[in-house]
Amino acid sequence: MNTPLDGIKIIDFTHVQAGPACTQLLAWFGADVTKIERPGSGDVTRSQLRDIPGVDALYFTMLNSNKKSLTLDTKKPEGKEVLEKLIRESDVLVENFAPGALDRMGFTWERIQELNPGMILASVKGFSDGHHYEDLKVYENVAQCAGGAASTTGFWDGPPMVSGAALGDSNTGMHLAIGILTALMGRQQTGKGQKVSVSMQDAVLNLTRVKLRDQQRLEKIGYLEEYPQYPNGKFTDVVPRGGNAGGGGQPGWVLKCKGWEEDQNAYIYFTIQGHAWEPICRAIGKPEWIADPEYATAQARQDKIFDIFAYIETWLADKTKFEAVDILRKFDIPCAPVLTMKEIAEDKSLRESGSIVEVDHKVRGKYLTVGSPIKFSDLKPEIKESPLLGEHTDEVLKRLGYNDEQIAALHAAQAV
Ligand code: COA
Repeated sequence: MNTPLDGIKIIDFTHVQAGPACTQLLAWFGADVTKIERPGSGDVTRSQLRDIPGVDALYFTMLNSNKKSLTLDTKKPEGKEVLEKLIRESDVLVENFAPGALDRMGFTWERIQELNPGMILASVKGFSDGHHYEDLKVYENVAQCAGGAASTTGFWDGPPMVSGAALGDSNTGMHLAIGILTALMGRQQTGKGQKVSVSMQDAVLNLTRVKLRDQQRLEKIGYLEEYPQYPNGKFTDVVPRGGNAGGGGQPGWVLKCKGWEEDQNAYIYFTIQGHAWEPICRAIGKPEWIADPEYATAQARQDKIFDIFAYIETWLADKTKFEAVDILRKFDIPCAPVLTMKEIAEDKSLRESGSIVEVDHKVRGKYLTVGSPIKFSDLKPEIKESPLLGEHTDEVLKRLGYNDEQIAALHAAQAV
């Protein structure tokens, strides 16, 4: 099957998570992605958090599927020569090294443009160019703190909290993928490549947009009515941590279900949509609240929202999280069970939709990964195994015109 990015050649000079997540997505959609890795060790995630000794870690296999691996020491003249050849014949170079690392190797943006004016150079950095922290190295949680997510996550009586979702890493990679596709479209009009960068701080901030909304509302009126601090708690001059409150105009909370005493995930998320008050009352067996002026409007409910949630918890006490959702869905109430990773791994629907995929790796054997979250009518991305370190080195070198003797010489020059 032809895939939309067929023929797009991507040099994947990325490591850890942010860059690899971006190039993996593009590989799923058909791009020819060649990952350059340091001879001997490769991407650090190959050996980080290993569950099987000597085998590429899941950290690596789950972020590098559908790619080729080329081992190259790009600090040596022989390695630089290969990278130059690759740049001449490729469309995109993606990197997420520490600030200045590519320049120090001799591959400045100016040099890359000389080699290939059509090249798109795509970078992830912790902070944007010119930012007062632009020199910093950054990992996931650092970005979550710098992007406003940590100060607004968690409970008001606890410390700032990072999320389990990779808002700093994979999220930045997804933003970068959008940037690359946009630059590819732009090149169709101008014939020229361009530099595309996304900082992890900016990518996190883009997702904490609503908290900047709240900061400005707070400064205007001094309170935020959808936060648990309203109306009895105190607001300062910064957006507080809102616990599990709904971030939009609909109050919501995580509510205990049957078995919560033993199972710390026996909860559902329950949302009180303003216009759905009537079905909510019917669902939870409180029809008298429908017309009661103390409860009938969102404003009237505001100061007793936690009493309402407490009542709903009594209604939930004899229902599992799945039973509860099965009842509430009939009343059109936005809700979901709090799912564990085990439940997600075993979820039939996620398997059927290709969101959870089983991959067969030549050394590791079978493992689960997350497939494409983007679904198309005419494309079903096939999730393949990740490459072994240097698996495609000879193949790529041959494509670049190297003969057997030159390939052997390169291997000798890069021996570790
Ligand atoms: N051949 C030769 N040298 C190579 C190489 C190769 N194939 N691949 C990498 N290197 C070199 C780099 O050029 C760099 O050398 P230099 O410091 O002498 O210039 C060196 O390896 C280390 O790279 P660096 O990026 O500094 O790695 P690190 O492990 O110290 O830092 C990060 C890791 C992620 C903190 C850092 O890369 C970073 O801040 N990246 C940008 C933000 C980011 O993407 N973070 C999230 C990752 S999920």
